[in-house]
Amino acid sequence: MMQIRNSSSRWGAGAQLLHWLMALGIATAMGLGWVMVNLPMGALKFQLYAVHKSLGITLLALVMLRLVWRWLNTTPPLPGQLPRHERWLAHGAHRALYALMLLMPLSGYVINSAANFPLNVFGLVQIPNLTPESEALGEWASRIHLALFWGFVLVLAGHIGGALRHHFILRDDILRRMLPGRSPR
Ligand code: HEM
Repeated sequence: MMQIRNSSSRWGAGAQLLHWLMALGIATAMGLGWVMVNLPMGALKFQLYAVHKSLGITLLALVMLRLVWRWLNTTPPLPGQLPRHERWLAHGAHRALYALMLLMPLSGYVINSAANFPLNVFGLVQIPNLTPESEALGEWASRIHLALFWGFVLVLAGHIGGALRHHFILRDDILRRMLPGRSPR
């Protein structure tokens, strides 16, 4: 039986659910963002923007919940035999991912606010705009949103590459402890 909370050797069901739900959501938001900006004007483009923004705001709420959950739980440490620079690299990537998970939706929220566009999350909740209407601010936020996308691509490549290296080359439990139901080897 899997535990909801983390233990000193593995991530609990709560952290795993947040991790994989957000992984799926972020991949979808990135793909949608890429496709929608390259689409010609029309109903489909409009609808994809609406889904992208709703998903993005949902991810902002989830990352805040995730930070609270992390703070309320112990975190399983990296294996002691891991070289210091690798430990540093892994923790650096994790910090960068939290920063990106916050700043990516926030910059998107600023783009939308600066355009003074109404924001309704999946047709359920109306969200107020953050900033006054401003073309200059919108352009800046848009540049930052795009730059953060490339930042995400870079850090995710390292994060996923690292996880696969641990699983298939070093053959340790790092990936397994973020997967449901498998006991450590
Ligand atoms: C984790 C969350 C998010 C991810 C991964 C993400 C990703 C992306 C990507 C890859 C693009 C295409 C960038 C480009 O080519 O310029 C984009 C564009 C855009 N996103 Fe997001 N986004 C997120 C959250 C949000 C949120 C919460 C909003 C608004 C409430 C938003 C609003 C926009 C808008 C308006 C654009 C069009 C770009 C522009 O006008 O410059 N995004 N997003």
